Amino acid sequence: MFCWISWIFISSVPSLSSWLNEGFSFRAQDVSLTLNMAANGTNGSTAAKAQVVTVSLEELREGTVPLSALEDAFGPTSLGIIVVKDLPSKFANLRHRLLSYSSYLANLPQGELAKLESPGSKYLVGWSCGKETLKSGHYDTLKGSYYVNCAPGFENVTLQARVREQFPCFPEYTAPNIWPPGDILPGFEVTFRELCELIIDTAVLVARACDCFAETNIDGYEKGYLEHVVRTSVASKARLLHYFPAAQTQPQADGAEGKSAAEEDEDDWCATHLDHGCLTGLTSAMFVDEATAPPRLKGSSSNEIPEPLPELPSPPDPRAGLYIRSRAGEVTQVKIPRDCLAFQTGEALQVITRGKFRAVPHFVRGAAADKGAMVARNTLAVFTQPNLWEKVDERRDFATFAREIVEKNH
Ligand SMILES: *[C@@H]1O[C@H](CO)[C@@H](O)[C@H](O)[C@H]1NC(C)=O
Ligand SMILES: *[C@@H]1O[C@H](CO)[C@@H](O)[C@H](O)[C@H]1NC(C)=O
Ligand SMILES: *[C@@H]1O[C@H](CO)[C@@H](O)[C@H](O)[C@H]1NC(C)=O
Repeated sequence: MFCWISWIFISSVPSLSSWLNEGFSFRAQDVSLTLNMAANGTNGSTAAKAQVVTVSLEELREGTVPLSALEDAFGPTSLGIIVVKDLPSKFANLRHRLLSYSSYLANLPQGELAKLESPGSKYLVGWSCGKETLKSGHYDTLKGSYYVNCAPGFENVTLQARVREQFPCFPEYTAPNIWPPGDILPGFEVTFRELCELIIDTAVLVARACDCFAETNIDGYEKGYLEHVVRTSVASKARLLHYFPAAQTQPQADGAEGKSAAEEDEDDWCATHLDHGCLTGLTSAMFVDEATAPPRLKGSSSNEIPEPLPELPSPPDPRAGLYIRSRAGEVTQVKIPRDCLAFQTGEALQVITRGKFRAVPHFVRGAAADKGAMVARNTLAVFTQPNLWEKVDERRDFATFAREIVEKNH
C-alpha cells in the first residue's frame, strides 16, 4: 500500500518537506560562523559554541585526522558538518563551470526544460521546478533543480534493470538519468560527472575517517562499513540548484506589499530538515548577476561550450544562506569557503554510528528582495545514500528505513 516514498519528501511536513543542503561562499579561507543570538536565548552560558571543523584532503588520505576532530565535527554537540580544504587543483574550475551551467540550464526555453522532466521518478531525476511544496503550502518556484544519479556504478544498465525490478516502489532511486542533448547544453554532462566524481571520492575518505572513529568507539562495529556503503552506492544523487533572481520570482501584487519572504520567515528558501543519507557533499554557492552577465547560449546547435559566468565576490545579502540548528537550539550560519567542500551528516549515518554522530537540522534563508534583484544563486549538493538493500542497523535495510521516515511524518 505504501508505494509512495520519496527520496526528498514532497509533503507538507515542515521538517522534511524538502531537504536541500546549502553552502555559502565568502572569502576563501574564511570559515567563519555567525551566531544568530536572536534565534534562541543564548545567555552567555559557558557551554562551548560548536565550531566548524576543517581538515585537509591530505589528512583524510593519510588517515591522520584526530578522532577528537571527528567528534567535534559530527558528535552530539556538533554542527554535523566538516569542511575539507586543499582539494585537487581542478576543483575550482569544475565548480565554477558547473555552477555556471546551472544558470544556463535554468534559462533554457520552457519547451526544452519540459523535455528534461521525469514525472516517473517523482521529478527526482532531471529538471524539476515548481513540483515541491513549500512550508507556506505554495509550490516552490523560487528554485529549479537538476537531479542526477551520479554514482559511477549506476551506469551499468544490467545492474540498473535489476535494481528497478527488485525495488519497484523506489523509482526516485532507480529511474535512468536524463541529460540535455549535447547541442542544447554542450559539455554539461561531462562537467557534471567529473565534479560529482571528485565529491564522491572525497566523501569516501570522510566515511573512512568516520569508520576509524566508529571502530574505536562502537562495540561490534563492522570494520570499514561506512566507507563500503558510500563507495559502493549506486544511489548517490546530485542536485544542482538554481535560485532564480528575486526579480523573476516576486509574486505580482498579491498583497505582500513588496516584503520579501526572507523578512517574514527565516527558512523561506528551504525549510528546516534533516538529510537522510550518509554524507552530503556541498560546494559553496556561486552568485551571478544575470543582468550584467546574461546566461544565454550562443545560437542553437553551435556546440560551443558556454563561457563560465562571472562570479560575484560576495552574496547580495549576507544573511542569506545555510543555517544549522545545534542541539542546544543555537542557530549558526555556516559559510563554506569557495575552494573547499563541506560534508554534512544525514540520518542513515546517525543510525549506522548508533547515534555517536548526529544528523543536524538545517535550513536555507533567502536573500531580501531589495538586495540584488537580478542575482541568481547556484549550488550543488551530492547525497551519498546507502543502496536500498544495505543494512543501517540489525533490523532494517535502507529501503525500510527510508519508508519509515516517510510514514513517521504522515
Ligand atoms: C542560562 O539560562 C538557563 C535557562 O534559562 C539557566 O538555567 C542558566 O543558568 C543560564 N546560564 C547563565 C550563565 O546565565
Ligand atoms: C554490471 O552489473 C552486473 C549485475 O550486477 C554485473 O554482473 C556485471 O559484472 C556488471 N558489469 C560491469 C561492466 O561492471
Ligand atoms: C531554545 O533552546 C531550548 C533548549 O536548549 C529549546 O528547548 C527551545 O525550544 C529553543 N527555542 C527556540 C525558539 O528554538
